[in-house]
Amino acid sequence: MLGPRFTDVRRFDELDSTNRYLVDEARSGAPEGLVAVADHQSAGRGRLGRRWEAPAGSNLLVSVLLRPDLPSGQRHLATAAVALAAADAATDAGIELWVKWPNDLVVPDGRKVAGVLAEAELGGSSGAPRVRPAVVVGIGINLNWPATDADLPEDLVGAATSLRQQLGHPVDREPLLSAFLAHLEPRVAALSEPEGRLGLHAELRSRCITIGADVHVQLPGTAFEGTAVELTPEGHLVVNDRGRLRTIVAGDVVHLRPSSRIVPPGPGRLPSQE
Ligand code: BTN
Repeated sequence: MLGPRFTDVRRFDELDSTNRYLVDEARSGAPEGLVAVADHQSAGRGRLGRRWEAPAGSNLLVSVLLRPDLPSGQRHLATAAVALAAADAATDAGIELWVKWPNDLVVPDGRKVAGVLAEAELGGSSGAPRVRPAVVVGIGINLNWPATDADLPEDLVGAATSLRQQLGHPVDREPLLSAFLAHLEPRVAALSEPEGRLGLHAELRSRCITIGADVHVQLPGTAFEGTAVELTPEGHLVVNDRGRLRTIVAGDVVHLRPSSRIVPPGPGRLPSQE
C-alpha cells in the first residue's frame, strides 16, 4: 500500500536524469511526493559530479521530491530516509543491504548495489507558490544489471553487484518500487519531527557498515587511513587516525577491512545488526 504522499508517479522510457527533472519541477513549485522513474537515463547524475550509468530497462532509477521541515544541519537525513527505505525493500526481496558512508547500499563484502544522490532546490522561482525548500533525492538500485561480473567494465568488477546477481534470479521493478515508496512514507513523516529524526539517525547508525571498518579516506589534495568510529548527528563520519579523531564531512571512503560489526552469516541466517 502506498501512503498519501507518493501518488503522482511519473514514468519515462527515457530521460536525461530523474533528479534533473524533479529539481526543475521543484523550481516550478511542485508539491512534496512527486516521483520520477526512468527506464533509461542519458545523463544520470552520480555523487561528486560523476555519471550514473545503467543499461535501459535493467535497474530502478527513481527520484522523489521532498519538502521536509528539516533543520539545515540535518539534511543528510533525507538521503538516509531514501537509503533506509531502499534497504527495507531489498530485505523484502530477500537480501540484506548495509549503508556504506555516506550513502551507498552495499552487500557485506562491500560491493555496491545502490547509490543515492540528494540535490537541493533552495529558492522558488518568481511566480511559484510559497512552499518549503525542496530536496530531490534520487536512487539507482542495481536490480538486474549486472547479471554476472562479465557484464561489468573492468574497473567495476569486485566493486558493483546487483540484486539479481546476489539472489540468483531476476527482480521485478514494480514490486520493488512499491515496497520502496511504502517504506519511505513513514520515514519522510519522521523527517519533520525531532523524535523522528533521532530515530532515523539511530537507524542509520545501526545499518552503517562503515562504523568499525578500517578505511582509506580520500579528501581533496590529501588522504589518510584510520578506523571509522562514529556518525555525528549531522551525518559526518568520525575516523580515528592513530589516536586523533578526524571528522569527515564529504569525501571518498574505501573500506580496507570489513567492519567488525559484520558477523559472518551461518546457515540460513542474514548478517546480524546491532
Ligand atoms: C552515486 O554516485 O552513488 C549516486 C548515484 C545516484 C543515481 C540516481 S539514478 C536516479 C537519480 N537520477 C540521477 O540522475 N541520479 C540518481
